[in-house]
Amino acid sequence: MCATVSAAVVVDRLVKDYGAARAVDGVSFEVDRGEVFALLGPNGAGKSSIVEILEGHRERTSGTVRVLDTDPATAGSDFRERIGIVLQSSGIDPELTVREAVDFYGAAYRRPAATDELIELVELQDKADSRVSTLSGGQQRRIDLALGLVGDPEVVFLDEPTTGFDPAARRRGWELVERLASQQRAVILTTHYLDEAEALADRVAVLAKGRIVAEGTPAQLRARAGSALISFVLPDHLDTAADLLSPLKGEIVGRQRSVQITTDAPTADLAHLTGWAQQRGLELEGLTVTKPSLEDVYLALVADDADPLHPADAPGQAVEAPDKANNAPLRAGEPSVRADEAPSQTGEAPEKAGESPEQSALDTGDEGDEDADAEDGSDGAS
Ligand SMILES: Nc1ncnc2c1ncn2[C@@H]1O[C@H](COP(=O)(O)OP(=O)(O)OP(=O)(O)O)[C@@H](O)[C@H]1O
Ligand SMILES: [Mg+2]
Repeated sequence: MCATVSAAVVVDRLVKDYGAARAVDGVSFEVDRGEVFALLGPNGAGKSSIVEILEGHRERTSGTVRVLDTDPATAGSDFRERIGIVLQSSGIDPELTVREAVDFYGAAYRRPAATDELIELVELQDKADSRVSTLSGGQQRRIDLALGLVGDPEVVFLDEPTTGFDPAARRRGWELVERLASQQRAVILTTHYLDEAEALADRVAVLAKGRIVAEGTPAQLRARAGSALISFVLPDHLDTAADLLSPLKGEIVGRQRSVQITTDAPTADLAHLTGWAQQRGLELEGLTVTKPSLEDVYLALVADDADPLHPADAPGQAVEAPDKANNAPLRAGEPSVRADEAPSQTGEAPEKAGESPEQSALDTGDEGDEDADAEDGSDGAS
């Protein structure tokens, strides 16, 4: 019963209001199976709101959303079994050991990944029997990642999944995400690490003030900044480089008075620049020619759009409780933890004890998704 034709995720003119504040303002995109789609944007741009709506954790104001041909707002446990979620902040019961936490969550699924494999996948073998409360921040985040994958999901939502990872762990986390996509899972990722988006994403959407201001492959977005960036430090005795810059597309930025020229004709522009400097007997300090990074483009795109709604200090700002909160205690200000469909993080044992876990498709490369939507409705995940 899997969708075979339509994209795994289809979002059309999605709007989310919190009271009078519009957090998501007409966003549309699609994500295919086997694709990694990254949502980028400043704090408050609306990334988590979108992701939580797609997960069915938050109601939308208007627009159409289909995930695996299902409307998440009205979806039941079958749908929950087919998606995996790593929330921006989660709250696993700190008294559980790593192994217990993975078992506990896995028990809610018909086809849980094998506990040890999952623990190995996020490299917590040495900590398998340690309580979650004793793990470092990055190690706890790795459990979040494991729990997001425990149900062998077809669509994986990763809201800033590698925050707190050390650099080596982050690289290995990337490999894991790549593997998920190669197994034909659709991956929706939010991140503030532009190198992460560049390394992982097939396509990127940059959000600002709840709107997509740019979308494309990382290479397409980079191309918006021209093919090269020439920079150097403006010599002290010069107030301006207007005569130099007039034929070039450049600007002086920062207190270091760095002159930055974006260009599609770096050879010609460099010749002009060095000719200008030689005529004046100047040595151009810090002269470099680089390829613009995704980060350069991103910073230009969102330059005027940081903190769009000023919600924290806007008087009368509505604060919306999670639409489908479970009973788990939330830390102040946190969004919903896992939906009511998942076992509550401190709550009752899942009704359906896990059958003996099948070999996880996570490691084998066996997609094994075709029957993921068994319809007996007898599971206790809800
Ligand atoms: N439960 C809520 N009640 C009221 N306003 C909210 C709620 N959740 C989010 N908002 C507001 O909606 C806007 C978008 O928030 P969202 O969490 O989606 O941003 P984000 O892009 O995920 O940011 P970050 O990068 O900081 O995680 C913000 O202005 C935020 O204050
Ligand atoms: Mg967020």
